[in-house]
Amino acid sequence: MKRGYEHSASTSVGPPQSRHRLNPPGDSSFLEDESSENLARKVAEHYSARTNQTLEEREASPIIHLKKLNNWIKSVLIQLYTRRGDSVLDLACGKGGDLIKWDKAKVGYYVGIDIAEGSIEDCRTRYNGDADQNLRRRKFTFPARLICGDCFEVRLDKVLEDDAPFDICSCQFALHYSWSTPARARRALANVSALLRPGGTFIGTMPDANVIIKKLREAEGLTFGNSVYWISFDEEYSEKKFKSSSPYGIKYKFHLEDAVDCPEWIVPFDVFKTLAEEYDLELVFAKNSHEFVHEYLKRPEFADLMRRLGALGDGNQDQSTLSQDEWEVAYLYLAFVLRKRGQPDTSRKRKANKGQMQIAKGDIMYLSGEP
Ligand SMILES: C[S@@+](CC[C@H](N)C(=O)[O-])C[C@H]1O[C@@H](n2cnc3c(N)ncnc32)[C@H](O)[C@@H]1O
Repeated sequence: MKRGYEHSASTSVGPPQSRHRLNPPGDSSFLEDESSENLARKVAEHYSARTNQTLEEREASPIIHLKKLNNWIKSVLIQLYTRRGDSVLDLACGKGGDLIKWDKAKVGYYVGIDIAEGSIEDCRTRYNGDADQNLRRRKFTFPARLICGDCFEVRLDKVLEDDAPFDICSCQFALHYSWSTPARARRALANVSALLRPGGTFIGTMPDANVIIKKLREAEGLTFGNSVYWISFDEEYSEKKFKSSSPYGIKYKFHLEDAVDCPEWIVPFDVFKTLAEEYDLELVFAKNSHEFVHEYLKRPEFADLMRRLGALGDGNQDQSTLSQDEWEVAYLYLAFVLRKRGQPDTSRKRKANKGQMQIAKGDIMYLSGEP
């Protein structure tokens, strides 16, 4: 994989310029001694502040094809592991960007949780169909419930006692926000495990720590990137060495044009896998996004979906629509699937009348910061 700076256009809007533009003097967003609570709030504020884009704005985004590619990856995961009528828990659901994917999979019930109030509100309006400018979209076919809160801090088993168990739990592009402390990483996995039925599936996408560390070690300094992203580590990592005894709280700052600008944490995958096993979650597979794309593009139905989404041109040889820099960002991520140990209880009846088909502002449940 080519490294960022050398191959970026000379007019690059990469790390040095972007840092000044986006991290003005006096901005305390990256202070050493910030508590994990404060950092979680920073993440929430960042996502809350991102307003819904119009279709035109979205199409003009410098990472539009990366967004389409990521949507394709999430769609493939959902289609591979969801069955008609499934109950879904979407951790860090954001603005509900996956609602249509769940609808296509004909799920029976959906619960979405996100820490960012603005995103949950956007998710609500999208679910209700209000966000659709040309009002052509029919209503979603499944009832839903939306919750605003920190799903890596709060115990969700009691909160969702009447909704659980879920057949499938999804956490897309967000699990790394739990890796700031061991307690949060454990809470994330404990929540997933407590809420999934035996045999249920946990699907997700998150940064690929191996790729990020490799790129850091290849970089001259502590910052690397290209025209659409940069990642910057603090001086404390100047030796570029990471103790296996401290696999949590390895923070870096991530900037992705038109998408992300906040602190994130490295998730060493072997530690994640071992910790997940403690919570009865067994690894089915983990694949870097590049490998994932190459593998699932071989399947005609997914190649067809890629063609329709238009991320990689015609879905075969033609990659003309996705820039090299966007493809490099895709390489920073992996997709994973875990399965909750145990056999499904086929005798158990589904609870009826969960959720609503129209969600009012007052229906959103707000969780306090206390676990
Ligand atoms: C990159 S966005 C992904 C959103 C959505 N999953 C998707 O794929 O479109 C990351 C999301 O994680 C949410 N998030 C971050 N930390 C969280 C936390 N502790 N609890 C709940 N949501 C969190 C953010 O608010 C944001 O909506």
